[in-house]
Amino acid sequence: MPKFQTIRGMRDFLPSEAEKLRHVEGTTQQIANLYGFKEVITPLVEHYDLLSAKSGDEITARMYAFKDLGGRKVALRPEFTASIARLMATALRNQPKPLRLFSSGTLYRYDEPQFGRYREFWQSNFEIIGSPRPEADVEVLSLTKHLLDTLGLQNYWFKIGHMGILRGLLSKEGVTDEQQNTLMQLLDTKQMDKALKTTKEIGVSTKGIATLQEILETKGKDASKVLTSLKETLQKYPDSMKAAENLHKILQLTQDSGIKFSQSIETGFARGLEYYTGMIFEVLIPEMTIALGGGGRYDKLVELFGGEPTPAIGVAHGLDRIALAIDKQNLPSKSIQETTAIIPIGEEATTQALKVALQLRGRGIAVEFEVMGRTVTRALQDADRRKTTFALILGPKELKDGKIVLRHLKTHKQQLVDIKDVANILSERID
Ligand code: HAM
Repeated sequence: MPKFQTIRGMRDFLPSEAEKLRHVEGTTQQIANLYGFKEVITPLVEHYDLLSAKSGDEITARMYAFKDLGGRKVALRPEFTASIARLMATALRNQPKPLRLFSSGTLYRYDEPQFGRYREFWQSNFEIIGSPRPEADVEVLSLTKHLLDTLGLQNYWFKIGHMGILRGLLSKEGVTDEQQNTLMQLLDTKQMDKALKTTKEIGVSTKGIATLQEILETKGKDASKVLTSLKETLQKYPDSMKAAENLHKILQLTQDSGIKFSQSIETGFARGLEYYTGMIFEVLIPEMTIALGGGGRYDKLVELFGGEPTPAIGVAHGLDRIALAIDKQNLPSKSIQETTAIIPIGEEATTQALKVALQLRGRGIAVEFEVMGRTVTRALQDADRRKTTFALILGPKELKDGKIVLRHLKTHKQQLVDIKDVANILSERID
């Protein structure tokens, strides 16, 4: 047999990497609790048509799609939002609103593997369903900031736009939804010139193109300044105007309620996913060109899947990328839990030492029991290599006296303690 490697774009997480990822994931779970979200677990395999309905050409073309043995066209999920919208149209249809739903797990996109871009990757996903109000948008921005602060990330910034501004103009100019989707894909991949050329080809008026150009060029840090000046340009496009006002309100509310972050308001900003109808955003750090997370409002998706008209907004945080960001900024990824090594000498002591291990673990003290039958010296060397702080050594002599040796591996100091007291002593010394 050949020596198998992982498939391109797929990764093994070795212990230290797995620990980092779970640390980020655990923090998203804490944030979910703090903000009142309840977890739902949806399947990894879904109907192809559900996943492709509004995910946009970019993502649809990269789905892991196949026929299952029953002949169904299925795919591995490339994101969570479609599954959540499916739930809202079915099992959760009659639940009182709002619902705050959290999910976490792996997703699959046949992207070109590169730094921070994988074919199997992790997200924690938050959706607030049932509210059209700016407060819901603010909550999603707030929890994203809260997450990054809790992880200790520095200098992050939000890139913020609003799908309604672009779509309002294009609809008024008679551009079909399908044509709009093509244009959004071009904008998402920064092909501004091609987008403008395509709009001309579609037959958008000269005034429309000039306004579009202005929308694409409008950006700045100060929401009031950016949006007040833009609103003047949007006089002829009432839906775009409403969208700009909505964005203004969300950002004003964010600022007034003391949620502070660096931001760039970019009204020409588009995201690849087609279901967005309102505010959209991504969060970035200066050390990386790829987003750590992204989200937005999608008020029509649940209805598209046969549910009641249901406004919704959400965000997904890319856990792999956040773990990379923590490395880039040299932040401690976790205070690693101390483990205590237990080393028995001889068969009789092994039985008793296993009992001590059980007792300590029962008190929440992490223990690595010596399972290799090594000499004390060898076992201590190994414990030292693993950066263990304490070792407990139990030999026949100590056993007879009901005692055990407690050794501090860094100072090499050791003392004889009563076996019955060892859990208390360690609890006091380990945080
Ligand atoms: P998205 O922007 O496609 O949005 O993905 C969100 C985040 O997932 C990205 O910002 C990035 O951190 C991470 N991500 C995406 N693709 C990859 C990849 N190939 N490798 C590593 N990380 C990746 C969504 O998925 C929407 N469902 C978010 C949302 C929720 N909108 C509303 N509710």
